[in-house]
Amino acid sequence: MLVGVGSSVPETYLTNHDLEKLVETSDDWIVTRTGIKKRHVLGKGETLAQHGIASAKRALEMAGIAAQDVDLVLFATSSPDDVFGSACQVQASIGARHAVAFDLTAACSGFVVALVTAAQYIRAGTFRTVLVVGGDALSRFVDWRDRGTCILFGDGCGAVVVTANPDPEAPGAILGMEMGSDGGGHKHLHCTFAGSGMKPLSDGADPSSHAAYSNIYMAGQDVFKFAVRTVPAVIDGALAKANLPKASESVDWLVMHQANQRILDAAAQRLGLPAERVVSNLSQYGNTSAASIPLALDEAVRGGRIQKGDKASSEWGIGQGKVIAMAGFGAGLTWAGAIVRW
Ligand code: ACO
Repeated sequence: MLVGVGSSVPETYLTNHDLEKLVETSDDWIVTRTGIKKRHVLGKGETLAQHGIASAKRALEMAGIAAQDVDLVLFATSSPDDVFGSACQVQASIGARHAVAFDLTAACSGFVVALVTAAQYIRAGTFRTVLVVGGDALSRFVDWRDRGTCILFGDGCGAVVVTANPDPEAPGAILGMEMGSDGGGHKHLHCTFAGSGMKPLSDGADPSSHAAYSNIYMAGQDVFKFAVRTVPAVIDGALAKANLPKASESVDWLVMHQANQRILDAAAQRLGLPAERVVSNLSQYGNTSAASIPLALDEAVRGGRIQKGDKASSEWGIGQGKVIAMAGFGAGLTWAGAIVRW
């Protein structure tokens, strides 16, 4: 069950007007096409792990759980500070000395994929307390001359604490999960890491030009169509696994990946959910990839919009606590959904 949430974003941010100075675009175009007004970006010398650590501490504090009681730290990210992984940096810094720690890569679906992974470890009895961190620093991977992508992404992290509790009626219970992948869609969205394709240094490659990655490539309209099709399907699938009725009859809050306001609106419409039940903070952060869902959840919870354990969802006849539908989608292509009682 989910027992705590936290988030952290850099202080530095770029408004649409700032971007007007970098590329041929306008505040009006960006707001109309995406809903984004500003995005936070890492400052000089700032790292993603710092925000992973801050969000982890906040989530643990809300959960009332000591770092030394964490069994597993999962860091969902596609932009780690260290290609060998960032989860161990979080583990060491927060003092989770008994925890196993590793990274998980599934782009903008990463947080929900990590949440599902955490839930499975707990169901299997392997671990009792898991810290799931989702974060990305895609500002470091964006071509700031490409107006089709640079307007979209922001940096940040979010985290949740997941613990063992077999009671499906308890607030925080994870009720249903669904995941999927389609590598055939890789051509629509990628940030190619040269990896094993790099010329070996032993063959005379210049270490200083040993490029690790190319900039983000995205065929926006193809990804848009994929997202609008996939989010309702993955939520329907997760609801079915939770034995819950269709979204319009069971879901109190839609907390989905924040990529584009038009995607949020279209997915909500297909699910039959009114705008009041959709959490959106896209205007303030842009697309923060693996961070966007815990960041949106954290703001909604701390801001009092989503209150834990209240009885409102009994209106829908399905017990105590609100029902939150989460859905991530993105590069891979990948998608994942989770239904959580809160
Ligand atoms: N400012 C002004 N004009 C622009 C800009 C800009 N920033 N960007 C593109 N344009 C132009 C295009 O060049 C094009 O001009 P043309 O008609 O003269 O050729 C026109 O605007 C329309 O471009 P489209 O790409 O068709 O615009 P669209 O309405 O599709 O919006 C967007 C583009 C915002 C990228 C949208 O397609 C989108 O949000 N796609 C989904 C992105 C997404 O969800 N990604 C999630 C996964 S990210 C991950 O996993 C890492």
